[in-house]
Formats: sequence, C-alpha cells, structure tokens
Amino acid sequence: MKSIGVFTSGGDSPGMNACVRSVVRSALHLGIDVYGIKYGYNGMIEGDIYKMKSYSVSNIVQRGGTILKSARSKEFMTKEGRKKAYEQLKKKGIEGLVAIGGDGSFTGANIFYEEHGIPVVGCPGTIDNDLYGSDYTIGFNTAINTALDAIDKIRDTANSHDRVFFIEVMGRHSGYIAINCGIGGGAELVMVPETSTTINDVINTLKQGRDNQKTSSIVIVAEGDEQGNAHEIAGKVMGHVPELDIRVTTLGHIQRGGDPSAFDRILASRLGLAAVEGLVNGQKNVMVGVVNNEVVYTNFKLAISKNKPLNQDLLRLVDILNT
Ligand code: F6P
Repeated sequence: MKSIGVFTSGGDSPGMNACVRSVVRSALHLGIDVYGIKYGYNGMIEGDIYKMKSYSVSNIVQRGGTILKSARSKEFMTKEGRKKAYEQLKKKGIEGLVAIGGDGSFTGANIFYEEHGIPVVGCPGTIDNDLYGSDYTIGFNTAINTALDAIDKIRDTANSHDRVFFIEVMGRHSGYIAINCGIGGGAELVMVPETSTTINDVINTLKQGRDNQKTSSIVIVAEGDEQGNAHEIAGKVMGHVPELDIRVTTLGHIQRGGDPSAFDRILASRLGLAAVEGLVNGQKNVMVGVVNNEVVYTNFKLAISKNKPLNQDLLRLVDILNT
C-alpha cells in the first residue's frame, strides 16, 4: 500500500486530532503517503482532499475538535454518492482508508468496501462509548470528565437551594456517559436506555432521599431514555410531587468539546498506529479497538450490530451508594 486517506466523520469527539496525528505520522514512518479528507464522506465526494505532511499535524495532539472537520453525509448513503467518492479516491491514487468515527461512519465504510473494494480500518471516535470491540472509544473519557465538572457545579447550587436537578447527558442509544457520571457525581438516580425506570421509581428514590435527610438530589438522564428527555421526565415528576423544587439542565454539546484527557490522547495515538499497521497487513472492514488493554480488530458488521452491554454492576453501585 503506497497511499492512504484519513478522515473524521459523524459527531466529533475529543482525541480525534490525536488520532489523525498518529495516523499521519505512522503512515509517513512506514513510507506511505497520506491524504487528509475533509468533512468526512462529504469531502470524499467533493474531492476536498489534500496531501498531509508531518507538520500538518503539529500542535494538535492536545486540541479538541478535528482539524479535518466532520459531517454526517446524506449523499454517501446513496450509490451515486459512493461512486463519486470512489472516483475521487482513484484520482489521488488512494488505496486504503482510516475512518475515525462511530457506527454510522463504519456502516458507510462497510458498504463502500463491498461496492468498490477500498479497504477501510476504523478507529472508534465517539463520546458515546457504544461500539462493540473496544472497551473505550476516543473521547468518552474526556466527555465524562467534562460532564462531571458541570455536575459538581450544579450540585453546589442544588445543595444551597434544597433542589432536585435533572441533568441530561448525551448518549442516544447508550447509557455509558450517564452511568459513569452518575457514579462519579454521586447521583441519586441514573436513567439509561438500557434499563427501564418508571416515573414511580424516580419519585420513590427522591422520597427515600428526603426520608434520609437529604436536602438535594441529582438525577442523571441519558438523552435516549425511554421516559423521554430530562425536561419531560421532570415535568412528569412535578405533576405528581409539586412540592419538590425541580430544575433541569441539559449539558448538550459541551460534552463534545475541550482538550482531550491524557487517557484519550494515549488511546487515540495507539489506535491510529494500529489502524495504519492493520491496513498494511491486509486488514479490511474492521474497527481497531482496545480490549483488556490489548489492541484487537473487530469486523465492522460485528462492531456496529453487536450490543455492548452496560455493566450491570455499575447500575447496582448507583443504587447502593445513593442512600
Ligand atoms: O454520537 C455522538 C453524539 O454526541 C450523541 O451522543 C448525540 O446524540 C449526537 O451525537 C448529537 O448529534 P449532533 O451533534 O448531530 O446533534
């Protein structure tokens, strides 16, 4: 393999830059040309592609966001879009790709390989930590630290005013951010899409807290919870227990930005090298991840479709510690 492309795609995550840097420098180290593709699959279709040098990735290991920009591409979901992308890669002589992104990006990569035979190795870049085949995804560690910082601040004001706060964190289909913030932030309750919690459960937990002389409480809600978003859940609880002084905070995209933590920089750097080495060694259609601190390659289909279960011990832990 003489020439590869690298791109970031889907929701950005802190550490993507460290991964781009690692891909570029690992490729150059192996004597392979490397092209940066901007705006994910959109840039591939448009030919927004440039040759990267070692200096192209200077001073980015510590920066949040992605210098390659990111997008969710509708056009790449069409056969015509993928054909255009293939033509652009062919023009540049790009023989393999490193995709840094989440499940949507890998779904696209998988179809692309089936149609056009360009091998892709994926690096899991999403704050959601929801990909099977890696214990951690790039950005998750930073995101939970960012969320925890906010939760600690909210706890101060909750405590001063004897209030209940419903705090919504990201995670459309996954409660990884919520459960970890719940434990780290000492929440009274965590609501995640993986398990069902009724409004009665919420009310009972809050009442139990009051019976135990708690004057304030924090409920962490994953945005994908089946009871709705934090505002909806808070509204339902207020309807039943109007005497509670309830406030709602949605942390939102603050969780996606910021300087990557040491953990994410190191994880991203390891995965970037492993992705390039994987391509060189003939890997295709796989995501590279770290399981039990070992680098492993998992077929895209499995990484996307197989459920990565939330550790039930963590949910139990919240219940035990919230009294
Ligand atoms: O997949 C990452 C993620 O941050 C999810 O947690 C969230 O639901 C989604 O992206 C938000 O996407 P967007 O930035 O496109 O609104």
